[in-house]
Amino acid sequence: MDFIKVASLSELPEGSSKIVKVKNSKVALFHFNGKITAIGNACLHKGGPLGLGCIEKKYDGTYVTCPWHGWEYNIQTGTAPPGYKDQQAVYEIKIKGDAVLISEEPIIKAKKATHDLSALDDLIHLKYQTTATSINILGISTTNMNDDLVRFSTSENALEKALAYATEKYGAETKMIKLRQLNFRHCEGYYSQHMNACTWPCSVTEMDVKDGMTQVYRDMVLWADVVLVATPIRWGNASSLYYKMAERLNTVQNQITLKKKILIQNKVAAFIITGGQDNIQAVAGQLMVFFTDLGFVFPPFSFLGWSRGWTAEDMDKNVLQFKKSEYIKRTTKEMIDNCVETLSQIKKRDIFKIIAPKPHRQDSLSADIDNPEMNI
Ligand code: FES
Repeated sequence: MDFIKVASLSELPEGSSKIVKVKNSKVALFHFNGKITAIGNACLHKGGPLGLGCIEKKYDGTYVTCPWHGWEYNIQTGTAPPGYKDQQAVYEIKIKGDAVLISEEPIIKAKKATHDLSALDDLIHLKYQTTATSINILGISTTNMNDDLVRFSTSENALEKALAYATEKYGAETKMIKLRQLNFRHCEGYYSQHMNACTWPCSVTEMDVKDGMTQVYRDMVLWADVVLVATPIRWGNASSLYYKMAERLNTVQNQITLKKKILIQNKVAAFIITGGQDNIQAVAGQLMVFFTDLGFVFPPFSFLGWSRGWTAEDMDKNVLQFKKSEYIKRTTKEMIDNCVETLSQIKKRDIFKIIAPKPHRQDSLSADIDNPEMNI
C-alpha cells in the first residue's frame, strides 16, 4: 500500500482535527489520546464533514459527532456507537519524522447500515393522496391559546366556518390542524451549515418521527388540494406559531434548490388574517411570498382580513362585532368558492411543465469555488 504525506505534526497538535484530501476523497485526521487516526470525512448520513465535529470520550472509546445531525463515529475504528452497524472508512497512518503519512486507500471500507425509516415511507417516496377529482381542504390554525382556558379565536372561527361550508357545498374532505396542539421542535438551522444538511423529510423529523411537523408534512404535501392558513395579527405580524411552522417548511422549498423538485403539486392556498388592530396587508404579503415559493397557486382575492384599527383596544367588542359580522359569514364562503374554482382549473395542469424559477445550487456565484472542508 502506498502512503502519501498529508500534513506535518506541527499542523496537527494533540487535541486537534484536520481535513485532508487523499486521491479523490476527503479524510478527517484526529490527534487525540496521543495518537493520530484517520477516518472518511463524509458522514454516511448525508455527507456532513466529520473533521469539523466535536470529539468526546463516550461509550467504549473516543467519538466524533457529525456537526450536521449528530451521527457519531469512533475516531479510531470508524464504527458507529454500540447498537448501530455503520462503519466509516478507516485509513492507516504512519509518522516519519515530522511527516504524517496516510494510506492511499482505506484499510477498512465504509459501509452504511440499513436504518429503519419505514414510518416515513410515504414522505420519502412522496405517496400523494390527492386524485383527479379530490377536494381535500386542510385548515391550519396558527393561533395560540391555553386549551384548558379556551377563548374565542376570530381566525380559528373563520377557518371553521370556511371548512364547514366546503363540506356542505362541495362535499369536500376537510381536516383541521391546530398548531398549538402539535408538539414540534423549532427548525434547528441545519441549512445554515450546508444546503444538503436541510433534508427531505426534515432531519428533525427523521430524528424523531413523532415530532408534530410530521403531520403537517403529510397533510400539506401529500393529502391536501387546498390549504387555508388562519392567523391572528400579533403586533403587526402573523402568529409566532406560524413562523415556527414556516421555518420547518424550508425542507419543502429546499428540494427545489437541491434537486429541482417541486413537492407542492397543483395545490391552492388562501389565508385568513384577523386582528383587533391593523396590518392585514403586511401579514398577507408575508404569507403569500412564502407560499408562492413553496409552489402553491392562489385564487384571485386570496386572503380574508378582519381588523378594527389602531385605536380599537376594546377587544371584547372585537369578538362581539366579529360574531355578528355578515362580512365574515359571506367572505369565508366566497374564499372557498374561489379556492374550489381555482383548484378545478389547476387540476388539469401538467405538473411536469411547471418549473421553479428559483436559484439552483449551480446558480451561486461561488458554485465553482471548492470548500476544502466539505465533501459535496
Ligand atoms: S449526521 Fe452527518 S450528515 Fe447527517
